[in-house]
Amino acid sequence: MEYIEVEGGHAIQGELAVQGSKNAALPMMAAALLTSQPVVLERCPQIEDVRVMCDLLRYVGAEVEQQGEQIRICAKRISNTRLPSELVAKMRSSIILMGPLLARTGKAGMCFPGGCVIGARPIDLHVTGLRRLGYSIAVEEGCVLAESPLQAGRALWQKVGGRPQCGAVSRIHLRFPSVGATENLLMAAALSQQEIVITGAAREPEVRQLGRMLQQMGAEIEGLGSERIRICGCETLQGTTCRVMSDRIAAGTYLIAGAVTGGDVLLHHVDPVDNFPVLQVLEEMGCHISCHEKQQWIHLRAPEMLKRISVVTRPHPGFPTDLQAMLMVALCKAGGVSSIEETVFEDRFRHVEALRRMGARITVQGSRATIRGGSRLKAADLWATDLRAGAAMVLAGLCSEGVSRVYNLEHVRRGYESMSRDLLALGAHIKECLD
Ligand code: EPU
Repeated sequence: MEYIEVEGGHAIQGELAVQGSKNAALPMMAAALLTSQPVVLERCPQIEDVRVMCDLLRYVGAEVEQQGEQIRICAKRISNTRLPSELVAKMRSSIILMGPLLARTGKAGMCFPGGCVIGARPIDLHVTGLRRLGYSIAVEEGCVLAESPLQAGRALWQKVGGRPQCGAVSRIHLRFPSVGATENLLMAAALSQQEIVITGAAREPEVRQLGRMLQQMGAEIEGLGSERIRICGCETLQGTTCRVMSDRIAAGTYLIAGAVTGGDVLLHHVDPVDNFPVLQVLEEMGCHISCHEKQQWIHLRAPEMLKRISVVTRPHPGFPTDLQAMLMVALCKAGGVSSIEETVFEDRFRHVEALRRMGARITVQGSRATIRGGSRLKAADLWATDLRAGAAMVLAGLCSEGVSRVYNLEHVRRGYESMSRDLLALGAHIKECLD
């Protein structure tokens, strides 16, 4: 069995270039299905979720070539529109293939993996939005099957040699700014014969980057980064080359690692503007932060003692839910009583049990965790329950007394190229081992 072994009590110090973003790369890879021309993505993170997305794209008929951080996808023809359960089960975000598959072929189907790790994660917003675009969708027995009555219309247009026009405006309102639903709808709308206005859209930088990629491919999109996005779909989109933005969550993880260990960290290839929500919180906790927007670096120097804070996770530009578990580790070390309210996912406190076993004093009531700071954490053997919980456990190991082991690395590898490699570069006493 593989595990990360980490010895606590050493300050994290040094420089690191942050990997490309998982949550940007996945929808950008899906968007390659919208064109029959090649799409090249630079600086793709070499992580498990990207490998699963490559397999899904190959399964539907795309040619996918991966050379280090570069992935070339050419979906000249799409031969399968029903995604295989064994791949979908590995990555819940396979749902973002629905929009591009429907837009390109008029058909898409997949079954849903059972169980859940951070919450129920329904798909009602995806389904309602795609229905508003004219697709008929059946959700039965854990499967979602969609097809397009519009497809018949498009074929007819082509037969009579007409050109579909941007006609009536379809309006879609998302009751919650779901990242995945916004991405799915953006992709489906970009290759449609409609004008679509999405309100209540997600404002995450990863959504903005997907929108920019679609613009490069020829889509007409306004309002990216705002809660109202207008798309005037086109008949065809062209290939493109894009560089994936840096991973905000990996950057935040290593900044918090610096904060909890009393360290000094300089991160390169990071956008301080996109990372503003976490920088603001770390600054309030007493960290000294400097950054350079043009040169894309962030420098963090930890204070002698972190200050307590109350944080609520929210969609961007709020504090990201994906850093909640890591922040909790830092609050275990801060002076005073802190609180975290998790408002994005309903079951994202699974790391609490592991932290308590290490000596943390945390109580949870519903969506709110109260953390009594100043704890001396003790090393333990820990089992990652999901990606970010696993990352938090590694951070807990960095700031506890003794040698901790974190198992279930398959969760951590879904999102981090190598936490042990990166933290080793920052001076941590850490290694990956095999039992
Ligand atoms: N939701 C619904 N109905 C829907 C869709 C979402 O109720 O149809 C709810 C979800 O249950 C959740 C909330 O809306 O409570 C937010 O979900 P969202 O759709 O925004 O999340 P996602 O698209 O499934 C992406 C990231 C997650 C990140 C969330 C929130 C990717 C591939 N995943 O997920 O990343 O936590 O946005 O920012 O982009 C991670 O990297 O560890 C991770 C889980």
